Formats: sequence, C-alpha cells, structure tokens
Amino acid sequence: MTKQRTIVTMPGDGIGRIVLEQALRVLDAAGFKADYIEGDIGWEFWCKEGNPLPDRTIKLLEKHKTGLFGAITSKPKDEAADEMADELKNKGLIYSSPIVGMRQHFNLDICIRPCHTYKGNPLNFIRRAANGSVEEPEVDVVIFRQNTEGLYGGVEWSHPEGIVYEALKTHPKFVKNFGHVPKEEISVSTRIFTKKATERILRAAFNYAKKNKYNSVTVCEKPNVIRETSGMMYKMAKDIQKEFSDIQLWNTNIDAQMMWLTKNPEDYGVIVAGNMFGDIVSDGFAGLIGGLGFACSANLGEDVAVFEPTHGSAPKYAGYKTSIVNPIAMIESACMMLDHLDEPTIAKKIRKAVADVISEGKTRTYDMMKLQGREDVLTKGAASTVQITDAIIQKLV
Ligand code: NAI
Ligand code: MG
Repeated sequence: MTKQRTIVTMPGDGIGRIVLEQALRVLDAAGFKADYIEGDIGWEFWCKEGNPLPDRTIKLLEKHKTGLFGAITSKPKDEAADEMADELKNKGLIYSSPIVGMRQHFNLDICIRPCHTYKGNPLNFIRRAANGSVEEPEVDVVIFRQNTEGLYGGVEWSHPEGIVYEALKTHPKFVKNFGHVPKEEISVSTRIFTKKATERILRAAFNYAKKNKYNSVTVCEKPNVIRETSGMMYKMAKDIQKEFSDIQLWNTNIDAQMMWLTKNPEDYGVIVAGNMFGDIVSDGFAGLIGGLGFACSANLGEDVAVFEPTHGSAPKYAGYKTSIVNPIAMIESACMMLDHLDEPTIAKKIRKAVADVISEGKTRTYDMMKLQGREDVLTKGAASTVQITDAIIQKLV
C-alpha cells in the first residue's frame, strides 16, 4: 500500500527555491507519493515581518514532522536591521538565523552529512602515489555532527560584567591569563556539551555504523587540549563502544584530521564530532567529493526531521534567467528524507540515477566542468539546473 504523507517544503531564499523545485520533480518522477505544504522561511519574512522563521512555519513542522528545506540568506546584524520594513525598525528585533533557530526549537540535535565519491565525477579528489602515478581514493564517510550545543549554542558575551565576570574569575587560568585585561576588551563564547546530547550523537553514530557495516567510528575533537568537552565526548565514546564489539573506536584531533583527510580519506568511515568541529570536518570531506553541489544533510530530532543541502542561498546565482546551479545536493538530501520515511527502494532508485548521470558524463553543471559560475557557462556546454534534473529523471528506472 502506498503511504500518504505531508512534507513541509521550505524553499527559503536565493537558489534554495530553485533546487528544491528540482528535488520535488525527481521525487515525483520516482514515484514518491506525498502531499506538500509550503512553509515560509528566510530573508523575505525577516524584512516583512521581523521574523525569518514565522510561528506558522513552526506549527506546520510541529504537525507534519518532516521538512525539506532549500537554503536561506543570513546577513550581519546591522545589515539585517537596515533592510527590515520601516514600521518594524527600532522595536528591538534582532536577526538570528532561522535554520539555527529551527534546529534549536525542535532540538534537531543529530546532523548527518554523508560524503561519498561518485564514480566519474571530475571533481573527485586525486593524489599522487609513491610511484608517481595518480590515485583516486574512494571516499565513503558519514559525519555525525552534534547540531545544537557547543560553540554554536549562542551563550556568549562581549564585555562580561557582574556575576559573569565574577564567575570567570573563579577559574585560576582566567586569573593568570586574562585577569589583567580590561573587561571591555574581552569577548567570551562558551562551548557547552551536555551528557544527554553527547550520548545521543554518539549512539546515533555507532548505530549507523552497525546498521551500514562500517568498521570504525572516529571521534574528531581535541580532547588533549579541550579537556572538559572534547574529553567528555571521547570518554563517553569509549564506554559506548563496549556495546559495539565489531566497531573500532578511533580518536583524531580536528586539526590533524583536516590534514589526514587529504592523505588517506578512504580509511575513515563514520566520524562523530561536536557542533563546530563537525561543521569543519564535514566541509573538508565534502571538498573531496565535489564540494557544495554534492553535500547533503539530515537534521534529526526526536520528533521532527529536516533535510537540506549544506550550501547556502548563493544569491549571485539566484537571479539568472536560466539557473546554472547544481541540484544534486538537494536531490541527495531528499533521498535522506526517503531513508527517514522508510522508502529505501525509491531512495536507491534516485541515487542510482544520479550516479548514472555523473558517471556517464554527458550532462554536467558548471561546477563539474570547473567553470567560473557565470550565465555564459551554458554556451560553454554546461547543463542548466533543469537540464541535469531532466537527465536524472530520464535515468530513473
Ligand atoms: P553559498 O553556499 O550560498 O555559496 C558559496 C558558493 O558555493 C557559491 O558562490 C557557488 O560558487 C557555490 N555553490 C553553492 N551552492 C551551489 C550549488 N548548488 N551548485 C553549484 N555551486 C554552488 O555560501 P555563501 O556565499 O557563503 O552564502 C550565501 C548566503 O547563504 C549567505 O547569506 C549565508 O548566510 C547563507 N547560507 C545559508 C546556509 C543555509 O541555508 N543552510 C548555509 C550557508 C550559507
Ligand atoms: Mg558549514
């Protein structure tokens, strides 16, 4: 029996709308049956309403549980204040990113970012072997990024005063290293990890490794220096690993990992990290498999799940008469949604069609041709966003 569901589509800004539309065409052509309802999100709603994530969108997600999101535009605080409607100005409204807001509101604490090599992608990472020949290692890595805490938790101060400053002074290292610095010259961003969230991301990583037959989980933090938070994550990982005897636990430091990933990316399987290091290491691996046009992600909470490409709204490309951007990251994000909705057959069919188009090499967007992103790429043989989507749809069997 075909399942019927409602998906909240959130196109957002810029190319978000363009790529989301293409993903929906592919889902439809592949036989995925769902109702779609559009949720407002992004810059337009900040400017018009003073809220880039209106309550009605929150309500839609509360009700329907599954979101497919394009991308939004974020701008610095001052620009945000300038661009909002005159009647909303000077009311104390402060812009904050709606995607971060959505992750916090629904506690979408588990972010999954797979990075798999597509055969025949001209953007694949290559390296020189000892005998001088060129090798193309196959990357098959899935990054689990804690999505709600750590350095992106938003607990920060400039010019800390009162009890905040007093609390800092209770730490001997603060007194020694910063005690002589005038308060107004200090900014503090905290890095808070909780046991519950740390356990959830670690368990998600181990369970995924087990289910998908990866033989290692790598904690990518910096426990030798950031002893309390990274240290807690690694210690908890050691305890949890005891329940997964077939899976090895590896420990790398984020800085070293960024070096190792271009030396031996094929050695890594599942990687787990806190919010910021997960963001960094996932961009690093994404670069090895073709970059932003290919990087997909899932944000999973206990109740709600939102799927999105990791790229932003690329405003420069949004106004082109014929869109040139690569929709594959968005289409792959839709496949992650299908996994989540327990539609593995349709997901597999779409992934195969994408892989076939890439390996065949006849239809390539500008990024895959290493062209500079300009409107004239279409005259140089690059496929448009719609053309590559058409090619993918034709391969669906
Ligand atoms: P971006 O990801 O939008 O674009 C950076 C560059 O990557 C583009 O100029 C383009 O060369 C390339 N690119 C991105 N997506 C592509 C695609 N699908 N196909 C081919 N090439 C692609 O990042 P940028 O320029 O730093 O930010 C633009 C806006 O997006 C900002 O307002 C930023 O705050 C926002 N942003 C939103 C995110 C989200 O919605 N999750 C994530 C990152 C940035
Ligand atoms: Mg990022």
